[in-house]
Amino acid sequence: MSTMSTPLTLAQLNGADQAEFTALLAGTYEHSPWVAERAWDHRPFATLAALKQALVQAVREAGADAQLRLIRAHPELAGKAMVAQTLTAESTNEQGKAGLTQCTPDEFARIQQLNAAYNAKFGFPFILAVRGPRGLGLDKQQIIATFARRLQHHPDVEHAEALRNIHRIAEIRLADKFGEQPGQGHLVWDWAEALAAHSEPGYAERGELTVTYLTPAHRAVAAQLASRMRDECGFDEVTIDAVGNVVGIYHGADAAAPRLLTGSHYDTVRNGGKYDGRLGILVPMAVVRSLAQAGRRLPFGIEVVGFSEEEGQRYKAVFLGSGALIGQFNPAWLDQQDADGVTMRQAMAEAGLDPAGIPALKRDPSRYLGFVEVHIEQGPVLNELSLPLGVVSSINGSLRYLGEITGMASHAGTTPMDRRRDAAAAAAELVLLAERCASAVPDVVATVGMLQVPNGSINVVPGRCSFSLDVRATTDAARDACANDILDGLRAIGERRCVQVRIEEAMRVPAAPSDAAWQARWAQAVAGLGLPVHTMPSGAGHDAMKLHELMPQAMLFVRGENGGISHNPLESTSSHDMDLCVSAFQSLIDQLASEQP
Ligand code: HGY
Ligand code: MN
Ligand code: MN
Repeated sequence: MSTMSTPLTLAQLNGADQAEFTALLAGTYEHSPWVAERAWDHRPFATLAALKQALVQAVREAGADAQLRLIRAHPELAGKAMVAQTLTAESTNEQGKAGLTQCTPDEFARIQQLNAAYNAKFGFPFILAVRGPRGLGLDKQQIIATFARRLQHHPDVEHAEALRNIHRIAEIRLADKFGEQPGQGHLVWDWAEALAAHSEPGYAERGELTVTYLTPAHRAVAAQLASRMRDECGFDEVTIDAVGNVVGIYHGADAAAPRLLTGSHYDTVRNGGKYDGRLGILVPMAVVRSLAQAGRRLPFGIEVVGFSEEEGQRYKAVFLGSGALIGQFNPAWLDQQDADGVTMRQAMAEAGLDPAGIPALKRDPSRYLGFVEVHIEQGPVLNELSLPLGVVSSINGSLRYLGEITGMASHAGTTPMDRRRDAAAAAAELVLLAERCASAVPDVVATVGMLQVPNGSINVVPGRCSFSLDVRATTDAARDACANDILDGLRAIGERRCVQVRIEEAMRVPAAPSDAAWQARWAQAVAGLGLPVHTMPSGAGHDAMKLHELMPQAMLFVRGENGGISHNPLESTSSHDMDLCVSAFQSLIDQLASEQP
């Protein structure tokens, strides 16, 4: 907590000598003024983000010993220093706000137990930014759950996670010192939290987020997005189209002017995260909100689309939302059934959607300047580089299959091992084969995400086993070569084990290299924030790879916490990083406006 009444400024820091600079940043890194001392060399700092990056870099370059000293300079949570009241002012504030000074005897005992086990395993204290990704503070249950989860980590992972939390703590302390809160980031974070209130029965009860195509939870999310676009953000037109996309248009100065198309998806995987897809809708909504509040019209319009289906969870067909915008909707898909036998046609009827209106959704590329998409990285790269943003160079191509192996169900007790036609054993071989094939080639991944013995019994040799296969690579050639190796191997497994293999291709999407001009605009936007520009391919698929088939596109990635995990409830991004996304998007818009004739 800054004791300084007047907020700190970059001008003050840039004009300071080393001693004064270090004093001005006192308390940012717990008992470690050397971090600021080292960063002083990199003045002047154009932005707070650049200052933060220089402090992070100072720690990264300091070496393992200094990093370990930095980690060990931190107090335990609810530990001896807290009890003895010898914490720094900043830590007292943080641990106090997190309620760690008012633990129940059980909570206190549990935390001491964790402190002891953690110290014994890692040799340093457990460090957590208890003010959390939103800066409002985690509650004690969240703190204890995170503590217990991270205790399972490998020491190298935990060492890196400790440093990441130290930088996050420093980031929040700097915001206090500068009196600069990430307002837009907080707004987007809160919007995502509100959207996550809607989840499907069977998941919601467990606090899990599942929103698949056209379920009531899905419709509720669409309605919330539409009303926020209309009532809070100042879009001129807001509609929900025939395939369920939520479409918001903010006209240019001339309503007939071409538009920038942007957006991402609002459906989730089962038990997924709050930001996958949704961040890419909410960030441009925040930008439009600022434009509308400023009464600013651009020489082009902005069309933000919340794509209704991207994950391919409920029906075999996937990318229903963005596919419709490029004229890719096969009416035969309407007869596809979900796991409960409900056809897509029925689901659309129940949702009040008329599929006859889908062909008209195809966009005329000449009406658009291009497509951009903001998305969480969903991987560890930016996290490991301690960078908040990344520019996407290409989206990996992906292939998906659904299949079933049919052997012969028989008695587990009486069927000799060499007389079995065990469908699950064959599928087990497939899983290892996919792992082996993909691991043998760089930048190729293969996943068996669904594996099931329908109506299996503990004392029956599995007669059937259904499975999915997902293969991806930076190039389509590498993807296809790996897929073919796996399919050839699967055929051989089938012959050797006398089981039938039925496998069908469910999705094939080519790799989508970013458009050079749009990629350069993102790079300029990131550099303009005072951040290093890191360019990287996307392992995940995105709506951008569909729009790619119709217009130039490029994506911006934002760092994820918890090692960048995604498709998992631990998916998390800080409001500071979200704020940088909004600023980068705003900068992209300004660049575009300055380029228009
Ligand atoms: O699967 C994917 O890559 C994306 O999350 N839909
Ligand atoms: Mn996803
Ligand atoms: Mn996504």
